[in-house]
Amino acid sequence: MSQAPRTVLLTGASGVVGRSLLREWRRRPDGGGLRLLPASHHADVPEAPDRTVTLDLTADRLGLDADSYAALADEVDVVIHSAGLTEWGLPAERYEPINVAGTRRIVEFAERAGAAVHFMSTAFVAALDDGAPKPLSEGNVCRNYISSKRAAEQVLADSWLPHTVFRPTNLVGDSVDGWTAQPQIVQLMSAWIGRGRAPYIPAHPGIRMDFVPQDLLSKAVLTAIELGEEEGDFWVTYGDEAMDVDGCLAVLVKHAAERGRTLRPPAIVPPETLDEDELARLPPMSRSYLSVLRDVSEVTWCSGGVLPTSMPLLRERYDVPEVQDTDAYLRSLTYAAEHLS
Ligand SMILES: NC(=O)c1ccc[n+]([C@@H]2O[C@H](COP(=O)([O-])OP(=O)(O)OC[C@H]3O[C@@H](n4cnc5c(N)ncnc54)[C@H](OP(=O)(O)O)[C@@H]3O)[C@@H](O)[C@H]2O)c1
Repeated sequence: MSQAPRTVLLTGASGVVGRSLLREWRRRPDGGGLRLLPASHHADVPEAPDRTVTLDLTADRLGLDADSYAALADEVDVVIHSAGLTEWGLPAERYEPINVAGTRRIVEFAERAGAAVHFMSTAFVAALDDGAPKPLSEGNVCRNYISSKRAAEQVLADSWLPHTVFRPTNLVGDSVDGWTAQPQIVQLMSAWIGRGRAPYIPAHPGIRMDFVPQDLLSKAVLTAIELGEEEGDFWVTYGDEAMDVDGCLAVLVKHAAERGRTLRPPAIVPPETLDEDELARLPPMSRSYLSVLRDVSEVTWCSGGVLPTSMPLLRERYDVPEVQDTDAYLRSLTYAAEHLS
C-alpha cells in the first residue's frame, strides 16, 4: 500500500527560490511522495498546485486566526523556510522583523506541528564567521542582510527542532534552460557589463565568482526531504571549482558574441584603488553597480577568497547533477536576454 504524501509547507513560494522549488517538485514523478503547500505574503504563485496559504512572518500566529493556525499545524509534516527580506543595503531594523523574528515564528509553528525545518540561509554568512580570515567592513552593502541570516540560523540552532540549513551562494537560472522567475543581481549586473557599461571591475585578487544554478539548490532540498533527512548544514556553492573573474568575463564576451556584439573585457582593478571622488562623478547606476561589485568581492575575500562548499557531498548524497558553472551562467544570460529584458 502506498503511503500518504507528506505535506511540506513552503514559505516564500512566490520568490525566486520558492518558484524554482515548485518547478523542480513538478518535474518529479508523483512529486517525490511530497505534497507542497505554497505560502506567500502578497504575490501570486504561478507554479502553485490547487491551494496556497497567505502568511505574514511579522504577525503573531503568522497572521492567521487561532483555528486556521491550529488546522495548518495539524496538516503540515515538514517546513521549507525560504521567505525573507533579500534586498541588500537596508538598515538592520528592516531585516530583524522578517528574517529573525519571522524565523522565530516559523520555529514556534514547526514545534506545534512536530515538523522539521529546512532553512534557506546564505553562503555569505562565511564572511561573518568567527574564524573568517578578514573582518567585513561595517559599511558593506550585504552586511546587515548577512547578519540577519546568521541570527536566523542561531534561532534554529537554539531550538531543539530537527532542522537543516542550506547556504546558497548567488543563484543564477535553471541549469537546463536558464529559467528564473525574476532576474537576479547576477543577471542584472552581467547585462550591464555585457553592454560595455562597466569602466572597470573592482575585484580582490584571486577571488572566485561563485554562481549556482537554482535547480541544484531545489534538487538538494527536495531530495533531502524525500530521504527524511533532518539535520546538517550545506554550502550550496562551487567553492574552489568556481570560475575566477577572468573566467566570468570570458563567459560575458562569449554571450555578447552570440548576440552579435563585441565586448572588450573591462580591466580588473583592486577595490582599494577605487577613488570615491571618481565614483561620485559616475552616473548613479554605474556608481551603484561598482560599489556592489566591490562589496560582494569583499564578502568572498573575507571568506578566504573561495566560499566553503558542500557540492561534492550534495552530488553524492542528494543526486545533485554535475553542471559546469560557466555553462550554467551562459545559459542563464541567454534566458535573461531572451525573456527578461
Ligand atoms: N536568490 C538568491 O540568489 C539567494 C541566494 C542566497 C540565499 N538566498 C535565500 O533564499 C531565500 C529565498 O530567496 P529568494 O531569492 O527566493 O527571495 P525573494 O525572491 O526576494 O522572495 C522572498 C519571498 O519571501 C516572502 N516574504 C517576504 N516578506 C514576507 C513576510 N513578511 N511574510 C511572509 N513572506 C514574506 C515573499 O513573499 P511575497 O512575494 O508574497 O511578498 C517572497 O515569497 C531567502 O531567505 C534568501 O536569503 C537566496
